[in-house]
Amino acid sequence: MGRNFVSCAVALYAGLSSVAALTPEGMISANRYGVATPNPTGDFALLTISKYSFEKHKQSSKWAKLDLKTGNISDWEGASGVSEFVFIGPSPSSILYVNGSNAEDDGGISLYFGDALAIGDAKLVASIPAPLSGLKAALTPSGDINFLLSGQAYPNGTAYNEQLATKPASAARIYTALYPRLWDHWLTPQKNAVFGGTLKKGAAPSNGTYGTGSSYSFAGKLANYVTGICNVTCAESPVDQEGDETDYDLAPDGSKLVFRSKDIDLSLSNYTSTPLYIVPFTGTSEDAVLLNPRGAPPYPDAQGYSTAPKFSPKGDKIAYFQQNGINYESDRRILYVANPDAKNAEITKLAGKWDRSPASLAWAKDGQTLFVQASDLGRDRIFSVPTTADDDFVPKNITDEGTPAGFHVIPSGLLVSDSKIWSSRDIYTVSTTGEPLKTYLQANRVDPELAGLGPEDVSEFYYATNSSEIKQQAWVVYPEGFDKSKKYPLAFLVHGGPQGSWANSFSLRWNLKAWADQGYVVVAPNPTASFGWGQNLTDAIAGKWGSYPYWDLVHAWKYVNETLDYVDTTRGIEAGASFGGYMTNWIAGQEMGKWFKALVTHDGVTQTLGAYNSDELWFMDHDYLGPYNASGMVPGSPYYDWNPLLYSDQWTTPHFVVHNELDYRLPVSEGILLFNLLQTKGIPSKFLSFPDEDHLTIKPENSLVWHTEIYKWINFYSGVSNATSPY
Ligand SMILES: *[C@@H]1O[C@H](CO)[C@@H](O)[C@H](O)[C@H]1NC(C)=O
Ligand SMILES: *[C@@H]1O[C@H](CO)[C@@H](O)[C@H](O)[C@H]1NC(C)=O
Ligand SMILES: *[C@@H]1O[C@H](CO)[C@@H](O)[C@H](O)[C@H]1NC(C)=O
Ligand SMILES: *[C@@H]1O[C@H](CO)[C@@H](O)[C@H](O)[C@H]1NC(C)=O
Ligand SMILES: *[C@@H]1O[C@H](CO)[C@@H](O)[C@H](O)[C@H]1NC(C)=O
Ligand SMILES: *[C@@H]1O[C@H](CO)[C@@H](O)[C@H](O)[C@H]1NC(C)=O
Ligand SMILES: *[C@@H]1O[C@H](CO)[C@@H](O)[C@H](O)[C@H]1NC(C)=O
Ligand SMILES: *[C@@H]1O[C@H](CO)[C@@H](O)[C@H](O)[C@H]1NC(C)=O
Ligand SMILES: *[C@@H]1O[C@H](CO)[C@@H](O)[C@H](O)[C@H]1NC(C)=O
Ligand SMILES: *[C@@H]1O[C@H](CO)[C@@H](O)[C@H](O)[C@H]1NC(C)=O
Ligand SMILES: *[C@@H]1O[C@H](CO)[C@@H](O)[C@H](O)[C@H]1NC(C)=O
Ligand SMILES: *[C@@H]1O[C@H](CO)[C@@H](O)[C@H](O)[C@H]1NC(C)=O
Repeated sequence: MGRNFVSCAVALYAGLSSVAALTPEGMISANRYGVATPNPTGDFALLTISKYSFEKHKQSSKWAKLDLKTGNISDWEGASGVSEFVFIGPSPSSILYVNGSNAEDDGGISLYFGDALAIGDAKLVASIPAPLSGLKAALTPSGDINFLLSGQAYPNGTAYNEQLATKPASAARIYTALYPRLWDHWLTPQKNAVFGGTLKKGAAPSNGTYGTGSSYSFAGKLANYVTGICNVTCAESPVDQEGDETDYDLAPDGSKLVFRSKDIDLSLSNYTSTPLYIVPFTGTSEDAVLLNPRGAPPYPDAQGYSTAPKFSPKGDKIAYFQQNGINYESDRRILYVANPDAKNAEITKLAGKWDRSPASLAWAKDGQTLFVQASDLGRDRIFSVPTTADDDFVPKNITDEGTPAGFHVIPSGLLVSDSKIWSSRDIYTVSTTGEPLKTYLQANRVDPELAGLGPEDVSEFYYATNSSEIKQQAWVVYPEGFDKSKKYPLAFLVHGGPQGSWANSFSLRWNLKAWADQGYVVVAPNPTASFGWGQNLTDAIAGKWGSYPYWDLVHAWKYVNETLDYVDTTRGIEAGASFGGYMTNWIAGQEMGKWFKALVTHDGVTQTLGAYNSDELWFMDHDYLGPYNASGMVPGSPYYDWNPLLYSDQWTTPHFVVHNELDYRLPVSEGILLFNLLQTKGIPSKFLSFPDEDHLTIKPENSLVWHTEIYKWINFYSGVSNATSPY
């Protein structure tokens, strides 16, 4: 990659008038922008930009510096090797950063302290003999830096470093309890833990190898706050797979930390329950106390996931979200504020009746307001919630289009990094009351691969259906050069979850515009179970997998058939992943299966019992109204009623099957069963599997094959291509 492809892209901007389709190659190899992280005074922000080259078969990544005054984006000089950083220290550009390697070359990492504007002068302050990440840091009143990092630990609490570990003679795995594996890996005795260390102000000890010449030194001692809290299970933070560095936070004076862990009294596979623990920084796991013990007053119903704990700027409060449902991952997240210093935590619920499910959060500088992001009518909007909000308070959104990947509070308001169906990254500022201030980047206006994409490529409609009182929404995405007097075949896409949504966001998987630009009008409905239209719509799918969402899709399709003159439904195709794959397999055996020329199932469910091969059993227990049992496999039970396999004699539509080998969410046997049956019945079908991908297909070269093979299939059957065979 050229040193300067950002500036280079900016220079190209003027020449980007010609409209080109979004191709799979273009989409996968276009710039990928991280989240812009501002310095404390809001003068500049730093972000990563990476790019994949199909010529070199290599991903390259670099840091960019965005000047928030001038809007200039330039290379962050000297920062290669920086894997993450926090602003901390005497000046507004002082940083502590993680260098992903260390001088010992033992698989560990190192910490450096310096000035972001002169990174070449940064000094090594600590060498950590394990691959830890997720840096948080705070200046203590005595001028030291307390930091947190996380990573795997041995059961004895020592940080685990795979490179230094002794391999056992046999690779055997033995389990005596539920939850042998998760997502794409088998569980081992090593669990995630949060570690803390102190960088002492002043010169390094005379014997010190580290920190010589710098203003901080590290004595090498790491505290483990998590491993050791054990009962039925051991505590783990970040929570495996779904957790990250937002699972823990450090008080602004470095005196204590908060972290979340699955409930140690419960089976991990059966329950989502995830309380928060508070520990003094100088303590250990033995000093960890529960902030919000399950079933305790004042909110005994709060039993499920707690997420995103965050100290207020003064450190006198912790804000977090919690769900009520103890075995339901998609219950409404409710915002709470707790006092970390009170004996009983003094927990207060904010906007408790608000019918939205907020996720990430940030505190206003004055600690009086929280900014939260929530799915809202097909977008992810940022809302402000005052700490005085009562139960009936309805928060107001301060952003509109798009889906934020992250946002930060700066003196003038919020710095938001989001994406939209037509742009992989927009970076802008907005005031805390919702006035747009300044736009810094719109990827569709600088990246040649996205040239010509814009809001005019997208519209939406609401349709009436018989499963819900409210009308439901569907996105419509038009192909390149769209002319509404012409007719385009329909690409009808069903989202996964089933609790989830098609949102106004740009994704490298199931990118609606990339599908459209093959020559389709894409219709992407948000049926029963979708996020953003209130909790009732999300919840209504429990026990109804083959009825409500199916009826909704029938109504959405009929709306298209009757209303959108530019859509040719007789040449339509349907595709979906995960629950969308389940629904594709369900559709295949129903009346609707005959309305499509071809179907695509990615990592779906072929038989309901097969879904019980999954990792997190609470999921099926919740959505199928209890665990599977043989005597319950009769009409009236969701396992029986909504089993796609029972309708396989009705299958006739050509069907493309993708199922990845590392998918432990829905194991590959589901895809093989589907393909075997399709072949046995003589139905045109094709099977694609990646041995190195899980529930999602991520790697650029794999993703290209995924798109190429699937598009070849649908384009043949819809007549978009002139190919003489779908293979
Ligand atoms: C923007 O950055 C480039 C490269 O760092 C520099 O040459 C140019 O002068 C800057 N422009 C402005 C307006 O600051
Ligand atoms: C990262 O660490 C390596 C040694 O492990 C060193 O050579 C390199 O200069 C460091 N880079 C930065 C940006 O600190
Ligand atoms: C913890 O266990 C690992 C693996 O058995 C071992 O290498 C390490 O020395 C132990 N640490 C302590 C402090 O005992
Ligand atoms: C270096 O000296 C300090 C005291 O100044 C001591 O605590 C530490 O253990 C010593 N480190 C080594 C590696 O000898
Ligand atoms: C362990 O589980 C028992 C039984 O559920 C419970 O009474 C006890 O409080 C738990 N201990 C800890 C440390 O959570
Ligand atoms: C998990 O939940 C199922 C269904 O509720 C129950 O039968 C089973 O005993 C539970 N297992 C554990 C370890 O809690
Ligand atoms: C808030 O959302 C509404 C749609 O519900 C939108 O019309 C409005 O512009 C948004 N407000 C702001 C400040 O972005
Ligand atoms: C959600 O459903 C419950 C129970 O059916 C009902 O009482 C409530 O009014 C519904 N809420 C909304 C916002 O429709
Ligand atoms: C709802 O509509 C679907 C699709 O037209 C139909 O199959 C189903 O029977 C209807 N359900 C009810 C309760 O009317
Ligand atoms: C789709 O619309 C056409 C034209 O109005 C109509 O003939 C056909 O029956 C409709 N298809 C279905 C399945 O409703
Ligand atoms: C089996 O499942 C059915 C349907 O979900 C349920 O009604 C029944 O109580 C279950 N029986 C046993 C023995 O768990
Ligand atoms: C299909 O063939 C026609 C006639 O040969 C040609 O004009 C058209 O460009 C071809 N379309 C594609 C997608 O190859």
